[in-house]
Amino acid sequence: MAKKPRKMIKNIAVIGSGTMGNGIAHLFAQNQYAVCLVDINQVALDKALETISKNLDRQVGKGTLTEDEKVAALKNIITHTSIEEGVREADLVVEAATENIDLKLKIFKDLDSFAPKHAILASNTSSISITQIAAVTSRGNQVIGMHFMNPVPVMKLVEVIRGYQTSDETCASVMALAENLDKTPVEVNDYPGFVANRILMPMINEAIYTLYEGVAGVYEIDTVMKLGMAHPMGPLQLADFIGLDVCLAILKVLHDGFGNQKYAPCPLLVNMVAAGNKGVKTGVGFYQYTAGSKALVVADKFK
Ligand code: CAA
Repeated sequence: MAKKPRKMIKNIAVIGSGTMGNGIAHLFAQNQYAVCLVDINQVALDKALETISKNLDRQVGKGTLTEDEKVAALKNIITHTSIEEGVREADLVVEAATENIDLKLKIFKDLDSFAPKHAILASNTSSISITQIAAVTSRGNQVIGMHFMNPVPVMKLVEVIRGYQTSDETCASVMALAENLDKTPVEVNDYPGFVANRILMPMINEAIYTLYEGVAGVYEIDTVMKLGMAHPMGPLQLADFIGLDVCLAILKVLHDGFGNQKYAPCPLLVNMVAAGNKGVKTGVGFYQYTAGSKALVVADKFK
């Protein structure tokens, strides 16, 4: 029997309108896909549209996008507070909700119930097992990881994670789609932290240990890595940018997944998260942040 042609991916639903979700919606909308951005919180959706508009303005300001293209991109996005409504027409769903396994499993059960049978279900998870997520659906062969990097419109990489059951066809569709977004997809297998965070998080954790043990200060550690290794941000600033709670959650996945002490989160990181100092999003982490200012000011605690 002749193979059915693969359905074109045109309609994208993005679940979660935080930093990653709004960046992913921005990227697809700018590339002429019809996007439905879904979040249970209407205020978060309104804020996401405002952020997307501001980030599109940056591109207009730089001359990489015209004003007409900006308007068209915004027109490509609709919003919904219900998953059921939001994924009804989707050819691909990209889940970018909070990094919490129970929440993701619940969302994927819903996606499996409400998205069309042909739809690919992708997660932007930074470390949670795609195989485990796929297992709560009835279409494990159509579940995959599509791990974008922050800021999504700027970073070239998409880490494409093959779960145990992901089919070649699903993987090929997602690789082609990422290329169509002018990104560079890299295919990896589903083991804790995949590739990006298996390598990045131990570096960040080691930088925190270096601070904790008094080897050097915040500014000094970041300067060594920026000027010595040509990293655009030092590891402590990057941890603030990613969110210290997210870094801690990923380290726990690595620690639990491999059972190896080398991934144990530094006690200073654990304390900072417990104190609510989670980095840029809370206004303080290793640095302190003032809205509208780009100045890099070391937090009082570390002066
Ligand atoms: N949307 C659109 N454009 C944006 C943007 C956004 N959200 N954020 C930044 N930009 C653009 C700016 O307009 C600017 O464009 P030009 O180069 O054309 O001028 C460019 O990005 C650089 O921005 P800035 O000049 O404001 O700032 P910068 O030069 O300090 O660069 C940065 C900012 C791109 C974030 C850079 O510091 C960087 O690359 N940092 C490291 C980022 C990184 O490692 N990301 C991965 C984090 S890990 C992750 O995401 C996954 C995980 O699982 C934890």
